[in-house]
Amino acid sequence: MRPLFTLNNRLSLCAEMVRKGKRIADIGTDHAYLPVWLVRAGFASFALACDIKAEPLMQGEQTIKKYHAEDLVETRLCDGLNAVSPNEVDDIIIAGMGGETIVHILSEANWLKDESKNLILQPMSKHELVIEYLYKNGFELTEHRCVVADGKIYTTFTANYTGNIKEPEEVFTYTGLLKADIEDDRRFLNSVINHLEKKANSDPHFGEIANEIKARFLL
Ligand SMILES: C[S@@+](CC[C@H](N)C(=O)[O-])C[C@H]1O[C@@H](n2cnc3c(N)ncnc32)[C@H](O)[C@@H]1O
Repeated sequence: MRPLFTLNNRLSLCAEMVRKGKRIADIGTDHAYLPVWLVRAGFASFALACDIKAEPLMQGEQTIKKYHAEDLVETRLCDGLNAVSPNEVDDIIIAGMGGETIVHILSEANWLKDESKNLILQPMSKHELVIEYLYKNGFELTEHRCVVADGKIYTTFTANYTGNIKEPEEVFTYTGLLKADIEDDRRFLNSVINHLEKKANSDPHFGEIANEIKARFLL
């Protein structure tokens, strides 16, 4: 059998957050590297590789064939989780999309409000919208990590439904569970501060949030 490829640091972080042996759905799978790697490496028992566009899904199908994962990875052409049933998967990965798209996908799948599901979310932008959505809808963050891949810093978190609806503090939506004693976390928090300081040119409120993050995390 063809040797398995290596995931980059960004997708590796998502893979590390999957509960071993669970059935996964990878939403916005594109090339299907993550689901193929997870089943072939023995970290997932089954995977759904989903994408809204036919062309990426065709690339995904090629990856599935190339690495002989046909028995364990199924493709679905769908918007978000629209063609996924609650009883098919345990861990749901949504990576490589903006925060607004991730919120749209989560809000369309009410069945995710289930304590047995593990969400693994890696927004490419506006992560604060995702964290705000999660807390306002009864989820909470369970793990939060950052990683450098190809010279860029990325953040990834897992979330679980608890039913406790909360209005998250605004600073928390930007910082989540990150700790400033980890180098990658500090790098991500500094990128958040830079972003907020740029936005402060048009709205001073963002400057206040940036200052609050600096003070709390001693950055
Ligand atoms: C940049 S790629 C990310 C691929 C992979 N998840 C990763 O992180 O490397 C984004 C993919 O998400 C898909 N996508 C965008 N919106 C989507 C939606 N609402 N539902 C499913 N897939 C979507 C795009 O077609 C594209 O293939």
